Amino acid sequence: MSAFRGIDDLGPLEDRPVLVRVDFNVPVSAGRIADSSRIEAALPTIEALTAKGARVILLSHFGRPGGQVEPALSLAFVAPALAERLAQAVEFIAAPVGDGAREAIEASSAPVLLLENVRFYAGETENDAALADRLAALGEAFVNDAFSAAHRAHASTVGLAQRLPAVAGLAMIGELEALEAALGSPARPLAAVVGGAKVSTKLAVLENLVPKVDHLIIGGGMANTFLAALGHPVGASLCEHHMTATAGAIIAAAAQADCKIHLPSEVVVAKALEAGIETQIKPVEEVAADDLILDLGPASVERLIGVLQDCRTVVWNGPLGAFEVPPFDKGTKALAAAAGTLSQAGTLLSVAGGGDTVAALKAAGVAHQFNHVSMAGGAFLDWMAGRELPAVTPLRANG
Ligand code: 3PG
Repeated sequence: MSAFRGIDDLGPLEDRPVLVRVDFNVPVSAGRIADSSRIEAALPTIEALTAKGARVILLSHFGRPGGQVEPALSLAFVAPALAERLAQAVEFIAAPVGDGAREAIEASSAPVLLLENVRFYAGETENDAALADRLAALGEAFVNDAFSAAHRAHASTVGLAQRLPAVAGLAMIGELEALEAALGSPARPLAAVVGGAKVSTKLAVLENLVPKVDHLIIGGGMANTFLAALGHPVGASLCEHHMTATAGAIIAAAAQADCKIHLPSEVVVAKALEAGIETQIKPVEEVAADDLILDLGPASVERLIGVLQDCRTVVWNGPLGAFEVPPFDKGTKALAAAAGTLSQAGTLLSVAGGGDTVAALKAAGVAHQFNHVSMAGGAFLDWMAGRELPAVTPLRANG
């Protein structure tokens, strides 16, 4: 039995209006959808519901309009993109909830409807009871398929789940099951790869992982703070010197917990963060005062590939170098490629998430080789930090 209630638990849905929270907060560049993964992720749930004869009423946020109508953040542009992928009509309902939306829904013959950006309402982010009541009045059941918004206790996530029979959609269940396999009951040894610029933004993640994982691979700018804590020179590199004591405490906790921390032993340095600039490979002990550490060196990459070869599960968040500026993307790409190959060979279960991470894996051309790539940014980090996601709680079978 699944740990979560699903669409089949809603009973017959013929002609019943079902509210579905999706996350259509998609990246847009020059007026075009730059990455439609989140739209595609919602298709199986929408199709499963329409196959049961339900009227699907989609809700999503887009950007952070702060409770006001901001025409530039209208969700209208998603309706045609969705209709094309579903090969069926999707009607965009511009009328506000409580002021014409219900009438527009009733007047429509489209099987799928998309409401305007829920963050145009002041009460959305406060999980305001009156707004949640008005939203709930539009449907008879609630499907939450927006894992990437599940860390938000908002009216369209938690509020609706408290007012209607609530279940998890297929993408939501897929995410939750992958995460459970990765950190809940993983095959061991288990490694976590944590990169990114700052220790301070991922402190809770590191503290949660230390007692859970066998190997903790730390890269990116945050590795410099750990290197400094161990007394290595970091030159002019990004480093949170005020966090070195905290990094030291994490190193000590890991030693207690039998968690092996892996830091770069060899790094790629340059005098500035510029594409194509002259670089040098140095052991960490030899970083000069005017050096910037910008990536893992090849020997460190090889060593870390060896770690992953010995592991059965890896959870990955964050790039390991200054990924956006080549050639400082090499270390991340090489380790990600190795993880992808091991996953394809079936010896490693790989789960990755977080905005930058997914972009990095896609740029490396290996995202499709991972067992699971989460759609989520902040929600994935909260989960990695061991926090219960408020919008997930009411979807639990025992909840
Ligand atoms: C995301 O893009 O991570 C989600 O859509 C959540 O967006 P938010 O951080 O604005 O709540």
